Amino acid sequence: MKNLIAGNWKMNPSSKKEAEELFDNLKKKIKIKPDAQTEVVICPPFVFLSLSKGLPLGAQNLFYEDKGAFTGEISSAMLKDLGVEYVIIGHSERRKYFSETDEVINKKIQKALDLGLKVIFCIGETAEEKSAGKKEEVLQRQIQDGLKDILDIDNVSVAYEPVWAIGTGENCSVQETKESIEFIKKFVKKDTRILYGGSVKSENSGAYIKEAGSNGLLVGGASLDAEEFTKIVQSAE
Ligand code: PGA
Repeated sequence: MKNLIAGNWKMNPSSKKEAEELFDNLKKKIKIKPDAQTEVVICPPFVFLSLSKGLPLGAQNLFYEDKGAFTGEISSAMLKDLGVEYVIIGHSERRKYFSETDEVINKKIQKALDLGLKVIFCIGETAEEKSAGKKEEVLQRQIQDGLKDILDIDNVSVAYEPVWAIGTGENCSVQETKESIEFIKKFVKKDTRILYGGSVKSENSGAYIKEAGSNGLLVGGASLDAEEFTKIVQSAE
């Protein structure tokens, strides 16, 4: 199984020029070889997807209907047509700011898979849930409801992203990540890829793969710096 390193640019950068520069820099630094042990995917905002310079692409969201009167939404078919390979679904920022429920996430995953997109399915507990001792309950519910009635999860990678670790600099310890990954494995297939995300930097990235047993990383802030992101990719090799 190849490790997957995904860069989630979130709502950055602010201009086409900056996005082009970032793609250019990534393209120069990251050498994508077909036989490499690590797969890399860049997930920019929708409006910058077509600037990718041939780098493997992921989207940050999609809508579960095929087409029609859904102002502001983007379909799986549109993403496929642009050459997008992956889509992030269930990110905690979508759950929090856009009220995405497990049910909505489930429909999005189903639609993405139906159209041949690979899914990076995010789950993770908040600080409150963790301190109330509910971490495992939350993870179990998010996985089971998110993957409900989905028969084939071969194209799903699960990203464990503790909400309290995202964008805070407070990354989850290797030991705790390892335990969470072991827990998550009970609910997926033996060969399902489990990623870690939350304040990943080049100083801590290697340990999540080599010590915590993850099969890759979902990188937010650090993916906006081509040099840092490249170091993270190298640390997985
Ligand atoms: P971060 O974000 O690396 O900035 O913490 C990770 C994510 O939200 O996927």
